[in-house]
Amino acid sequence: MNEISTKRPDILRGYGSAERPVTAELWAKDSQAKSPAMLEGGNYEPAHQHVDYARYYSPEYARLEREKLFSKTWQFACREEDIPNIGDRVPVEIGPLSFFVIRSAPDAFKAFYNTCLHRGTKLCNKPAGGDEIRCPFHAWEWSVDGRLQRIPSHWDFTAVNPRNGSLPEVHLGRWGGFIFINADETPLPLEEALSVIPAHFAAFQPERRYTKARFRKLLDANWKISQEAFQESYHVVGTHPEGLPFNGDSQAQYDIYRTPHGHIGRQIVPSAVPSMHAPASATNFEAAMASAMLAKAWHYPEFPLPELDPGQDLRAQLGDWMRAAYADAYQRDAGQPDSTMLDSTLYFMFPNFAVWLSELIPFVYHFTPHPTDPNKSYFEARLLMPYAEGTPRPPSSPCIEIGLHETIMEKAPAFGFLALIFDQDMGNMPLIQAGVQAANPKRHHSQLGTYQEMIIQHWHETLDEYLAL
Ligand code: FES
Ligand SMILES: [Fe+2]
Repeated sequence: MNEISTKRPDILRGYGSAERPVTAELWAKDSQAKSPAMLEGGNYEPAHQHVDYARYYSPEYARLEREKLFSKTWQFACREEDIPNIGDRVPVEIGPLSFFVIRSAPDAFKAFYNTCLHRGTKLCNKPAGGDEIRCPFHAWEWSVDGRLQRIPSHWDFTAVNPRNGSLPEVHLGRWGGFIFINADETPLPLEEALSVIPAHFAAFQPERRYTKARFRKLLDANWKISQEAFQESYHVVGTHPEGLPFNGDSQAQYDIYRTPHGHIGRQIVPSAVPSMHAPASATNFEAAMASAMLAKAWHYPEFPLPELDPGQDLRAQLGDWMRAAYADAYQRDAGQPDSTMLDSTLYFMFPNFAVWLSELIPFVYHFTPHPTDPNKSYFEARLLMPYAEGTPRPPSSPCIEIGLHETIMEKAPAFGFLALIFDQDMGNMPLIQAGVQAANPKRHHSQLGTYQEMIIQHWHETLDEYLAL
């Protein structure tokens, strides 16, 4: 990594005890060897603890984001399994920006501006397939790789020909079955934006997974408010207190990996250990059993619960049990350490994409602005599951659209008990959005935690750089 190393000498990195250790101590005892890349912590700690609330609702700030952020950074577009056949395509909406991605050959993809060259009609409005790209208005037609094929009454458009009539493309990059696009004319390489992610996810093999469930929820909150609700686990004590007996929120670890053009935030919340906020009566044994029951209920219903020996390392036993359940379900070796089997580890890639390095909660998130209203946004989540060895990749689950006043539990029950947790998070969104707009003009900023809200700090620091504020 190209180092911009700034670690602060003055901060406490989590709060644990001998019985309820912080993440670094749990990971050091992990029974399975981890890659050195994964053990490597972050290289940067910001000091940016006040965020002006105006950037969560100002139309001017949203305009700057559109011009200098969303059209200049790598944006998650779709998974390869969303468009399995040549000609399959999906729209990619990033606020007011609209593109579409199409499979143009068995292993090739292209991304285009979603605008007809005739009078501007949107070319791809929903997932679709077909042998050509045809505008619904006057039927101008392009091949699946964007070359002009046909203009009805071509005699009336002599200025347009196959040489100048191709659809304008945007850059496209791929990693692990994910497709990203970038509308900048000369973008930085995707590899720089992904930074440590490919190395840290090597054993997780995202390329051998598929989208088992998926939703996109409309929210009464700015996209940054929504994303920030996932960039810290400090809110567990207030919002999800039922998780305290088996999730070490205060023992969580936060890392920032910063290179000249890479900004990754990592959050690791250890499972199978009670939070320091949990009552003294909460035991590590109960925490381990809760994690096992959760894994069984959601991923391994056929597999018997483990018989844990309270005298031995509980996390190591749980890791072994989960690897056995995984091997039974998918006919292959998980090949991953206890931490990946148990903990809630997620990586954020600047500005608005997140992927979990977690077999328990293998999610992918994408936070996108609303086309016209900075007080609204979309939260998209996918469940990225492995599939059995020797079987073809299952088709991608279609996206369930969830309205402002609908719950994730009622519309996307495939997310199991996590749907309830999402709904708890979603309940906070309109309150945050309303509260920041009602703040005293003389105290118009947040006060972020030095350590636990470090990723949020770094995101705003980086936003300032992109928007040149
Ligand atoms: S607007 Fe597309 S063919 Fe007329
Ligand atoms: Fe939450």
